[in-house]
Amino acid sequence: MEYSEKVMEHFVNPHNVGKLEDADGIGEVGNAKCGDIMKMYLKIENDIITDVKFNTYGCASAIATSSIATDMIKGQPLSEALKLTNKAVVEALDGLPAVKIHCSVLAEQAIKAAVKDYYDKNGIEYNPADFEFEEHHH
Ligand code: FES
Repeated sequence: MEYSEKVMEHFVNPHNVGKLEDADGIGEVGNAKCGDIMKMYLKIENDIITDVKFNTYGCASAIATSSIATDMIKGQPLSEALKLTNKAVVEALDGLPAVKIHCSVLAEQAIKAAVKDYYDKNGIEYNPADFEFEEHHH
């Protein structure tokens, strides 16, 4: 199995790892295929993600995809964060081995779950279809 240089970079030195004590939205998801878990914390001000951190009990690919996914949504409006697909994340990492694609869904799902948590906590209406999850393959 071959990892791209970008995957190795983000795995060895992942960005945005940890926990936000004052998070506005928290998402926790598990991967049905391997049982690994991802927890995502979002700080949200005026619909903008001002800070994000994640913790995972996942493999190298889950760590690398979450690292780059959190970089991609930081400073972005929620509407943009909700559009982030695991496919875009995998592309940003210059690809993942096919057997590891399922690992990349954890980040996307956890971000969506955290935004949904924020909406629920604040009584903000949303379209449930935005939170339906599809696994995108290459
Ligand atoms: Fe579980 Fe990669 S093997 S997230």
